[in-house]
Amino acid sequence: MKNINIGLIGLGTIGTGVVKLLRQNEELIAQKLGAKLVLKKIADINITTPRGVKINKNLLTTNAREIINDKDIPIIIELMGGYEPARTFILEAIARGKHVVTANKALLATYGNEIFPAAQMQAVDIGFEASVGGTIPIIKTLKESLAANKINSIMGIMNGTCNFILTKMTDEGKMFDVVLKEAQKLGFAEADPTFDIEGIDTAHKMAIILSLAYGKKVNLKDIYLEGITKIGREDIAFARELGYRIKLLAIAMLKNDAVEARIHPTMIPSGHLLANVNQNYNAFHIVGDASGPVFLFGQGAGMMPTASAVFSDIIDSARNILKGVTGRVPLRSISETAMTQIKLIPMDNIETKYYFRFSALDHPGVLSKISGILGENNISIATCIQKARGEGLAVPIVMTTYKAQEKNVRRALKKIDKLDMVQDNTILIRIEDELN
Ligand code: HSE
Repeated sequence: MKNINIGLIGLGTIGTGVVKLLRQNEELIAQKLGAKLVLKKIADINITTPRGVKINKNLLTTNAREIINDKDIPIIIELMGGYEPARTFILEAIARGKHVVTANKALLATYGNEIFPAAQMQAVDIGFEASVGGTIPIIKTLKESLAANKINSIMGIMNGTCNFILTKMTDEGKMFDVVLKEAQKLGFAEADPTFDIEGIDTAHKMAIILSLAYGKKVNLKDIYLEGITKIGREDIAFARELGYRIKLLAIAMLKNDAVEARIHPTMIPSGHLLANVNQNYNAFHIVGDASGPVFLFGQGAGMMPTASAVFSDIIDSARNILKGVTGRVPLRSISETAMTQIKLIPMDNIETKYYFRFSALDHPGVLSKISGILGENNISIATCIQKARGEGLAVPIVMTTYKAQEKNVRRALKKIDKLDMVQDNTILIRIEDELN
């Protein structure tokens, strides 16, 4: 049986998972591939810390270039994360004609427009299944399984940390900070957890997903982004009363030849599949024009689930090597030379339903004042809840709306928040309840 060498750069959690999974399923992988994968070298800046897996010392190096420059290693696995030197290492590997497998979402979201064309020029693969949704085969689904579809919409729960926090706040009434610490301890929060809770990690993943779904280039900064830090326990309770659960959703909607791309906390009907994706699980609800709804669910992070996705790419590249083919599936759905810039719809122009939580003094006329401003701005109220605390005291007034335009909502809230009888800035959460 033929051997195919692989080299690993980065022996952190996922890197260790790659070593473990190869040990665990070496024979099964060899049977499926018809060749043996041999882990020839592993590079990490720290090769002394025990990783819970036995590794022959001769395999370890602190110099990644021993792998990149090794002519006998055709597949490089980059699992070090971060921008540099990961970007340089990947570009060097591409220049040497090596296939690259990476889980580096931040790098691909930021430098994808440099890395993918370089790889296509060199006719090498960039495998990045592990970069979005951990073990979930979302990349293959968009690039291959749904290739004949116009993608009408994608709704994704793409960050396990946020989903874990929102689940624990909803089901166990826990405080935000306490649950964030738990997520950090469990090891799925980013090194800098603001990447998770401010939605930046989701934006990285969304940029990758958009480029595959629409075969277009995407600028990360053009994706509308709100994290979960403003969600209070009272919003979660009101959501429940209204029949919703709150999730941090990444939403892409095709509108003619333009796309709405937004990430924000969203109220969704509590019976919907996405509302029932809890703990640190990720999920994708995709609607293709031919396929109709497709739902993918699984672990969005973690050592072995992510290593599973890494291996799907290693095996793909190894199969290409065995057949002597490259470029059969374009790296980002369509040829890099055919990719144009995505047309994103400005956030001001989107239309959706809204939940508002006003913090107002319980005075005569307050409701009519607020509803008057909403009416002037073409915003129609669907429901209103006020929990009385006593005349003259601050109370939460909750309203949901029919579909309204974001621009009008912003203008109305600006005016409402300036009213003397309104105490704090209004909390706004978008509602999506017309899901397939
Ligand atoms: N911090 C990420 C999450 C890890 O919580 O989902 C996986 O990308």
